[in-house]
Amino acid sequence: MLGSRALGAAGPRVFSGVQPTGHLTLGNYLGAMRRWVEVDQRRGDALFCVVDLHALTVEHDPGRVRRLTRQAATLLLAAGLEPERCTVFVQSHVDEHARLSYLMECTASDGEMRRMVQYKEKVAQRAARGESVRLSLLTYPALMAADILAYGTQEVPVGADQAQHVELTRDLAVRFNQRYGETFVVPRATHPKVAERVMDLQEPTSKMGKSGQERKTGVVYVLDEAEVVRKKVMRAVTDGGSDVAYEPEERPGVANLLNVLAACTEGDPRELAGAYGSYGSLKKDTADAVVEVLRPVRERHAALAADAGYVDSVLRDGAERARAMARPRVDAAYRAVGLLA
Ligand code: AMP
Ligand code: TRP
Repeated sequence: MLGSRALGAAGPRVFSGVQPTGHLTLGNYLGAMRRWVEVDQRRGDALFCVVDLHALTVEHDPGRVRRLTRQAATLLLAAGLEPERCTVFVQSHVDEHARLSYLMECTASDGEMRRMVQYKEKVAQRAARGESVRLSLLTYPALMAADILAYGTQEVPVGADQAQHVELTRDLAVRFNQRYGETFVVPRATHPKVAERVMDLQEPTSKMGKSGQERKTGVVYVLDEAEVVRKKVMRAVTDGGSDVAYEPEERPGVANLLNVLAACTEGDPRELAGAYGSYGSLKKDTADAVVEVLRPVRERHAALAADAGYVDSVLRDGAERARAMARPRVDAAYRAVGLLA
């Protein structure tokens, strides 16, 4: 059923991933998934992965990770990724990721890992609560580099928060190639034009992110019901002043709404600002636009979630294809460092 397909052989090799650490958000959708569907799977030879090993870098509940992994994979298909056009799979189903990650740890220095902004932020948050962090949170960019480099990836479509990790991946690829001979393609990140960083509606200076267990009112989840989405957007924090202007530094709350509206309607946030006389009407239109963008995804998700056999077959087939693509390059890397015959 899924066996015959024409990969976009002429296009670039694309790889991206999403962590099953919480329910997927509007940030994930506008910053990453929507572009994977509309652009990346059509242009090239693309792989999209639910990176479940990464979900183990923070405290986790095994049953929840399993459920969220499945939900994320189902959502990728609901958003419109087509198994006939691209490869959709789960990271832990393909051993090559963990296998190459070790070689990346042997290529990176601990100093460059400790400089990662996301790591520093998470350590600071946890230290404030008197908690420790898992060692894998520090080494996580080595695993992410392995995810990308195993496939000869050229482009990595991600939100702005991942730019630094892709930059590090480039450094590791170049360093490995210099030390051991040409083995890896040096990839580059691509970002969406608008909404490369969707902010929390209640705290517009922080990224809208999946948070652990609790559901936050500043975060719109892809599977939120229309009424919930409306409420969250209508209650978004706005800034002083009452006229609508696009000033991300001075007025992050309003700029965030304009960015979201622009992303949902293919508009330009600055031009949209001129079209509104009050925060109330901007919020109402933004709420409507978000509801319309998410509606078909939620509907398809419900249909796919009822067809477990189909999702399983897509993931099984995806893992098989991914394994076949990664294996030769990871073997070559092992040989290059002096292992294997
Ligand atoms: P994560 O949820 O961290 O696994 O992210 C999966 C993808 O969504 C990555 O490409 C992120 O850069 C992107 N992403 C996550 N949150 C946001 C956000 N608030 N705005 C834009 N992109 C995001
Ligand atoms: N670290 C990414 C995030 O938090 C997820 C991820 C893991 C990823 N491996 C990747 C993204 C490889 C792109 C390519 O969003």
